[in-house]
Amino acid sequence: MTEHLVGLLLGTEQDWPRAYETLVRRLGAVTDRNGAEHRLRTVRVSIEPFGLRDRPSHDLVIDRLAYWYYHPREWLKKVALMDDVYLLNSPFTFQSMEKHAAYCAMMRLGLHVPETVLVPYKNPVDHAKWAYTAERYNRPFDLDAVAERLGYPLFMKPYDGGAWVGVSRIADSAQLHAAYDESGARLMHLQQAVEGYDVFARSLSIGPETMVMKFRPSLPMHERYEVSHGFLTDAVGDEVVTISRLVNAFFRWEFNSCECLVRDGVVYPIDYANACPDVALTSLHYYFPWAMTALLRWTAFCVITGRKARLDMDTARYFEVADTTDGYRDKLQRYRGLADAYFDVDDYREFCDTTLRHVPELVADWVSSADFDDLLVSTVRSTYPAHEHERFIGHFRGLLDLWRNDNAG
Ligand SMILES: Nc1ncnc2c1ncn2[C@@H]1O[C@H](COP(=O)(O)OP(=O)(O)O)[C@@H](O)[C@H]1O
Ligand SMILES: [Mg+2]
Repeated sequence: MTEHLVGLLLGTEQDWPRAYETLVRRLGAVTDRNGAEHRLRTVRVSIEPFGLRDRPSHDLVIDRLAYWYYHPREWLKKVALMDDVYLLNSPFTFQSMEKHAAYCAMMRLGLHVPETVLVPYKNPVDHAKWAYTAERYNRPFDLDAVAERLGYPLFMKPYDGGAWVGVSRIADSAQLHAAYDESGARLMHLQQAVEGYDVFARSLSIGPETMVMKFRPSLPMHERYEVSHGFLTDAVGDEVVTISRLVNAFFRWEFNSCECLVRDGVVYPIDYANACPDVALTSLHYYFPWAMTALLRWTAFCVITGRKARLDMDTARYFEVADTTDGYRDKLQRYRGLADAYFDVDDYREFCDTTLRHVPELVADWVSSADFDDLLVSTVRSTYPAHEHERFIGHFRGLLDLWRNDNAG
């Protein structure tokens, strides 16, 4: 006898759930054509903190709630990505990706994503059906116990966030409660902190091109990317490139940044759902010509070769690798193969070496031109207050000189 658990994720309605539950009970056991017996059982899904690695017992979930209540919506995504639960309907058919789904997917693929818990909203959700639903299905929970299981310090951050908004480092219970109280209407993750890391590697990817840069998050924007080469070993550098390409191929993102913390040679990806990342001249400076080259080459490749956008997700091929007993390195290598194939890396390289072989020189010429300097000057003028123009024009010119020297001949 195989029992199949069907979860009902409900708001205020009672009619059709009761009808369905009754019919399932009445159906009883059924025998398939191989003679095996099956039984369905229904359960109403309750709302409570869930670990992203917690195993649900549901085989299928019918959802009538996630369209307005985001905590269970994220649970649906988690069970879809981590546990193969069949969904009617999948939130992926009506919502694009954010941090949370990216964490789930990369966890399942075996990356070293710090342990993460999604806690329910602090404040009531502004919806007519909230009071009834919360009263019936929200379970009281002990926030301290959740935090203690993860361990301090930890980070509290919006499940869909960006640009550091609402991100806080939490050292103790008092800070935990203060931050949770302040989160109000924002849905928050609690995430184990990667303490004492050696390098913050931020990579920018455009199609199959990735630049891994040393990032200093505590400095002002124009100083965050340090001009530094060889700050990672070849192996770790390649691992960061692989992770970036994997994330992008998996989610069909072509333009994205990926943040990894490296500690004792272990790469912890912490933020990699940044589609349409900052590529301002004043933040990228030295790396700006690289970014423009990549953008030019990749867009040219796409239009000239007639590359088709792939909106379908090829998750099964990645999960097939994820679910093997292969070690982390072997899996990464196989993911790299899939991601490289997705981005047509070999064809692209060949295209760059032949059809676009003059592009590096073309970019170098441009960066040395008065036109580029004019762009630099006007960007500084529109970005900074007047008394800082001179300093910043000098600063960025210096960094671009460095690029020209490094890329000469
Ligand atoms: N798990 C973590 N361990 C250590 N530092 C973290 C962690 N999560 C976030 N941070 C720090 O907080 C910053 C912002 O968090 P992040 O996840 O990148 O959110 P955002 O999308 O807002 O950039 C990171 O750049 C990093 O400095
Ligand atoms: Mg970030």
